[in-house]
Amino acid sequence: MEKRSLKFPDGFYWGAASASYQVEGSIYNNDWAKAGEAGKVPKADNRIDHYNKYEEDFSLAKDLGHNCSRLSIEWSRIEPAEGHFDQSEIDHYRKVLEYMRSIGLKPFVTFWHFTQPTWFSDMGGFENKKSVYIFTRYCMRVLDDLNDVCDNWATINEPNVWASNGYQRGNWPPFKKNPFKYFKVLRNLVKAHKSVFIKSQIKYGDRIDVGIVKDNIQFTSDKNLFNILIAKVADSHWNHYFLNKVRNHTDFIGLNYYFHQHFGKGKEYPKSDMGWNIDPEGIYHVLMDLKRYQKPVYITEAGIADKEDKYRAEYIKGMVKWTYKAIEEGVMVKGFMYWSLLDNFEWALGYDKEFGLIHIDPVTKERIVRSSAYVYKDICVSNTLTIK
Ligand code: BGC
Repeated sequence: MEKRSLKFPDGFYWGAASASYQVEGSIYNNDWAKAGEAGKVPKADNRIDHYNKYEEDFSLAKDLGHNCSRLSIEWSRIEPAEGHFDQSEIDHYRKVLEYMRSIGLKPFVTFWHFTQPTWFSDMGGFENKKSVYIFTRYCMRVLDDLNDVCDNWATINEPNVWASNGYQRGNWPPFKKNPFKYFKVLRNLVKAHKSVFIKSQIKYGDRIDVGIVKDNIQFTSDKNLFNILIAKVADSHWNHYFLNKVRNHTDFIGLNYYFHQHFGKGKEYPKSDMGWNIDPEGIYHVLMDLKRYQKPVYITEAGIADKEDKYRAEYIKGMVKWTYKAIEEGVMVKGFMYWSLLDNFEWALGYDKEFGLIHIDPVTKERIVRSSAYVYKDICVSNTLTIK
């Protein structure tokens, strides 16, 4: 069959993503660390130690052809007690961001990726209406210091995933199963996002972009009327409730895409180590569905847990191919960040699920680049995917 080269737009961003609690190590002052101590979730330890090894890790990313990286900053380090900001931790992130820029990696920073300082979760976290003010104060304090070293900021990572695990399923802190509280925290997250967006617009105008990172799923069903209805309701709530509320208060949408969910009888797909369908085409449908918002989109996460590295290369190629199609059809996709640069702490599942382009030896902390990372490198370096 004839080969085709899919050339991405000039200036396209290629990279990988991570989040503070999943890779940094030595974080003791947040709700996850506390729940880990209490034996309710696994404990994150120092095996990855990205807090100290960030230069090595970002240099590897650069060697792997990346020109950007997404990370989150750890709120509990920066504001260890209410209203008390630790300048040395803000300075640490300045060093990280300056290092990334010096080697040619554009930083994408998320203010809040699931973990809360214990003082904040103890006062009810986002159930408390003061949370909007408190979260805004934290974000603005960080922006005041770091607006010159990063111009792309996401307020919240995956509001629906966080709220449903913490307030519906009850398997993440604060371990509640309460639909009223689920909606209450979502509403406060909407307000918190908008408040940061508005304040940063007033202060920094177009100099920085502030956006949201959303976890969208492709919902499909068989022809059963009930299944059609569930798929529609799931789509409207999960994919669009939050985005509709913030659509006039966001510079971009960060899309995290992992799988599609089918209701009723359907085709079987190969599964990742998470048991998720491996079906890259879904990203195309989810991207097309974001067109209605008319915003630039960054794919801020797309990844696969695959310890043996059996499926990762093909998965990445598939995701990139379907992303290309969405761009051809008018979606303003500006970048693609694989989840994750490194194997890391997969929340309630601990360290067993390995998403990394780079495997970490848990004892020696040695970084071992997986072969799929080189397949991704070819795409990043050439800004092109070649398919048969
Ligand atoms: C989250 C990551 C997580 C990944 C894989 C996303 O929901 O943002 O923190 O590790 O998916 O489950």
